[in-house]
Amino acid sequence: MPFRVLATDRVSKKGLAPLREDDRFDVVLIKDSSDPEFASGLKTAAGLIVRSATRVDSSLLDGAPGLKVVGRAGVGVDNIDLAAASERGVAVMNAPSGNTISAAELTMALMLAVARRVTVADRSIRQGRWERSRLQGVELRGKTLGVIGAGRIGWEVAQRCRAFGMEVIVYDPYLAAERVDELHPKLVPLDRLIESADIITLHVPLNSETRGLIGEGTLARMKKGAFVLNVSRGGVVDEAALARALNEGRIAGAGLDVYEHEPLSPDSPLLDAPNVVLTPHLGASTKEAQIQVALEVARKVRTALAQGDLSSAVNASDVANAAGLS
Ligand SMILES: NC(=O)c1ccc[n+]([C@@H]2O[C@H](COP(=O)([O-])OP(=O)(O)OC[C@H]3O[C@@H](n4cnc5c(N)ncnc54)[C@H](O)[C@@H]3O)[C@@H](O)[C@H]2O)c1
Repeated sequence: MPFRVLATDRVSKKGLAPLREDDRFDVVLIKDSSDPEFASGLKTAAGLIVRSATRVDSSLLDGAPGLKVVGRAGVGVDNIDLAAASERGVAVMNAPSGNTISAAELTMALMLAVARRVTVADRSIRQGRWERSRLQGVELRGKTLGVIGAGRIGWEVAQRCRAFGMEVIVYDPYLAAERVDELHPKLVPLDRLIESADIITLHVPLNSETRGLIGEGTLARMKKGAFVLNVSRGGVVDEAALARALNEGRIAGAGLDVYEHEPLSPDSPLLDAPNVVLTPHLGASTKEAQIQVALEVARKVRTALAQGDLSSAVNASDVANAAGLS
């Protein structure tokens, strides 16, 4: 009997090829998890692949007695109750690298839009104005980019900015040794980065160390006229403090894709702050990224079901504990 794998939330069909083209799997695509067929399919499913819309909680898991693995086509697993999955011995796998290039390219788009006031200029021209001198921008060439978090995305952004003739400095206390060797001359302490970068770009996870990393104190120490970009996670930037710094002209612009509360509230002070470019969490929203994340997770689900290899699960040790294996 092939392993039945249910895929929902419009996961890329093309990206599911590793499972669809393998006789050991029977892949069932159901657009929306509210479809009654989804609940009936779950009863016999060994694998489930979701994006962010389906909430994988205890009640869903209780309806899937044979489930061994949940794959999340994307990075965050906020829509999956990890504790409930671990208790039931269900491995949870994500796809952290499939959207790296898309997120790095969106960072470049925000950087250029802020530097050349693209969205402000677009609004102005639609309002019947022709404001060439008011909309003067700055070049990226020769500017110092401060990358906070030089993992997959931060690294790709750094490479692209070098091609723009920028000086790149990096703060990342957890970089792997090879990366440190490679970057050594450019690796700087956080204080130095904050004080010397013209553009600061954030590519860190959200945790107790990074929450509010860009807040009143750090904003006060930035160069006058600096820009801040955040395509990482909301909460890393204190939005009220950033809006104040922009309104007071201490910071010249910001580009944000992620927010403490999503969707962004219509009352957010960022909406009235000058030279801010806002996008609604679009970092991974490209055709290519959606295929890549589905491919990445489909391969992991294949290995997990066909070979029993759960080592790439985000809850691998908890699942092993639940099974009494460690
Ligand atoms: N906007 C989007 O749609 C989108 C898309 C993909 C990823 N992301 C987010 O972007 C962020 C980066 O993703 P990634 O794939 O590059 O992750 P990654 O794990 O490859 O890199 C994160 C880097 O941050 C570093 N880091 C951790 N704590 C730090 C700290 N306190 N100070 C400085 N550096 C620190 C780590 O050492 C690591 O090198 C994540 O938060 C991810 O969730 C957002």
